Amino acid sequence: MSTLAGLLGFPVRHSRSPAMMNAAFAELGLDWRYLALPLPPRRFAEAVRALAGSGYRAANVTIPHKLAALEVADEVSDAARAIGAVNTLTLREDGHIAGDNTDAGGLLDALGEPAPATALVLGAGGAARAAVWALASSGTQVTVWNRTARKAAALATELGVEAATRPGPAELLVNATSVGLRADDSLDGLPLVDARVVVDLVYGDAPTPIARWAEERGARLVDGREVLVRQGARSLAVWTGREAPLEAMRRAVVHGASSTSAQV
Ligand code: ATR
Repeated sequence: MSTLAGLLGFPVRHSRSPAMMNAAFAELGLDWRYLALPLPPRRFAEAVRALAGSGYRAANVTIPHKLAALEVADEVSDAARAIGAVNTLTLREDGHIAGDNTDAGGLLDALGEPAPATALVLGAGGAARAAVWALASSGTQVTVWNRTARKAAALATELGVEAATRPGPAELLVNATSVGLRADDSLDGLPLVDARVVVDLVYGDAPTPIARWAEERGARLVDGREVLVRQGARSLAVWTGREAPLEAMRRAVVHGASSTSAQV
């Protein structure tokens, strides 16, 4: 019987992770099956424990379960604890559950260049927390901005960075808000400062509003799809110890297209 892996989220139908991860397992010749499992927020812990008893050895976790996944794990990595969120679960046959966070490392891998001296992260939800932690722990001086300023202030205090209501330019700008999930989202409310590199954690088939903005100004754009591929590659390495086939994963993300945008 195949080894089973699941994507736990609500909703999950727009995710490209199943196409991407199944392509990776096939390319590596591993008999694994990766399924999208829509899981409403109630009874998350119970469901995860049941999966462990039903042949599931691995899971990725997405909105809205990343906090609950931290709580259900018997053991968590330092990154996951510091970020306060788990996106990768390893389910042992004896019931032991290990939690990790590959969103942070995935973002740095996708960036593909030394961490910049300064960065501005927009947003204060789970995606922003992983981005702030990843960059700050690489030595970047991070500023956080959020529409609801008190959330940015709380996140900044917790992770030891600055919060700003009117931020200045930075080398790197990260969109970790959900702005752009709808193609006609306006960028008017965001402080889009001058930046050499822009990471948009929102992705879709068509360029997102932030991607269009970045390209118009000649900034280097790091597409959310590359962040998705890189976090998936790290999850796969956690579960199997194998190096992920990045090209096969990228192809699957592009071809597993849906007309709706999503967020890493
Ligand atoms: P995630 O875990 O993916 O980060 P989230 O916790 O729902 O998701 O966070 C969404 C982020 O997008 C928040 O920072 C939210 O700002 P608020 O805290 O003020 O709600 C931000 N966001 C959503 N819509 C926005 C908009 N139109 N303009 C600016 N920020 C927005």
